[in-house]
Amino acid sequence: MASSAAAVVAEADGEEVTNRQVILKRYVTGCPTVDDMEVVAGAVRLAVQPGSAAVLVKNLYLSCDPFMRTRMTRHSEPGFVPDYVPGKVLDTCNVSKVVLSGHPDFKPGDLLWGVTGWEEYSLIPNPVFCHRINHHEFPLSYYTGVLGVPGLTAYAGLFEVGKARKGEYVFVSAAAGAVGQIVGQLAKLTGCYVVGSAGSDHKVNLLKTKFGVDDAFNYKKELDLNAALKRCFPHGIDVYFENVGGAMLDAVLRNMRPRGRIAVCGQVSQYNLERPDGVDLFQLVGKHIRMEGFLVSEYAGEYYRRFEEEMARYLKEGKVVYVEEVAEGIEAAPAALVGLFAGRNVGKQVVAVARE
Ligand SMILES: NC(=O)c1ccc[n+]([C@@H]2O[C@H](COP(=O)([O-])OP(=O)(O)OC[C@H]3O[C@@H](n4cnc5c(N)ncnc54)[C@H](OP(=O)(O)O)[C@@H]3O)[C@@H](O)[C@H]2O)c1
Repeated sequence: MASSAAAVVAEADGEEVTNRQVILKRYVTGCPTVDDMEVVAGAVRLAVQPGSAAVLVKNLYLSCDPFMRTRMTRHSEPGFVPDYVPGKVLDTCNVSKVVLSGHPDFKPGDLLWGVTGWEEYSLIPNPVFCHRINHHEFPLSYYTGVLGVPGLTAYAGLFEVGKARKGEYVFVSAAAGAVGQIVGQLAKLTGCYVVGSAGSDHKVNLLKTKFGVDDAFNYKKELDLNAALKRCFPHGIDVYFENVGGAMLDAVLRNMRPRGRIAVCGQVSQYNLERPDGVDLFQLVGKHIRMEGFLVSEYAGEYYRRFEEEMARYLKEGKVVYVEEVAEGIEAAPAALVGLFAGRNVGKQVVAVARE
């Protein structure tokens, strides 16, 4: 992040404007519905106290992340990110524009990606989780996806955790989603044999024709996931990029090769359940399989900057293509989030709140 103390602009008194926000209405059990959230009209003063390091941003694109569902349940033990609170605005990694700044690293007009609220304006007291957008030649929404958290997750999970190498057999679930579409393409660029699973024939077709994986199947149509994986991987799987958990993970474990690696990125099939599905983890023992969970936050900072340059180059060269689904307006945000759990999104689901 560049520093520009001279450009700091902070105002004590500013005009008050409407700030529409998406709040959690109540803790969620089971599949989330749009009624679990509410779009309310709050107010925000366009001001930053002089002497504070806060920034006031206008949110442009809101990211829809399956992980947000896990924060809608009240947990007895604190997790690595706090639960959402009924009556309070949701947050995640969005794209925004600085309106006012008391922080030496940011000035009005700067475009950022990072943690802000699901609202029109966010006042961020300490913007440690906000990063400047460096590549203006791409649509800004890409920083909720291929150039933001999902892209970095795919990259770090595949290479640092999965340790995918040329010639290996790679399987990715939720392969047509935000993370999955990048995993498949990066694995192909590495020279791996890649298979993806997704929940519709349209997505399967997209995987084969647009994302260029070697094979793909619709897991909803397969009566026996074990048989589907044996068909696609007669020699077994070296690297599994795990996005869904449950029955798929169970079937994958039985098809892993000795010394295989499983990058546990997420388990979207489990997020709406009160108790997780059973999985035969004993499979890890005899075959010395490495199964490792990871959080993308480990790979912020310098690692992200290297990733951003590499991914921007791939996009410019057409080596990676990117698909997103843009819902219009903050009112559309609750339905867009709920849609993730029915697989309604093709590619990354994002919500456009404002374009500038
Ligand atoms: N570890 C980290 O730091 C990190 C960071 C970001 C994301 N993640 C995880 O990465 C995974 C993918 O996230 P994403 O943002 O890329 O979401 P996404 O794939 O764009 O959207 C979620 C997809 O999950 C699939 N799905 C929904 N319910 C399912 C179920 N019951 N069984 C199987 N598939 C189901 C749907 O696709 P289908 O049509 O194919 O069913 C849906 O489109 C999630 O598990 C997420 O939590 C982890």
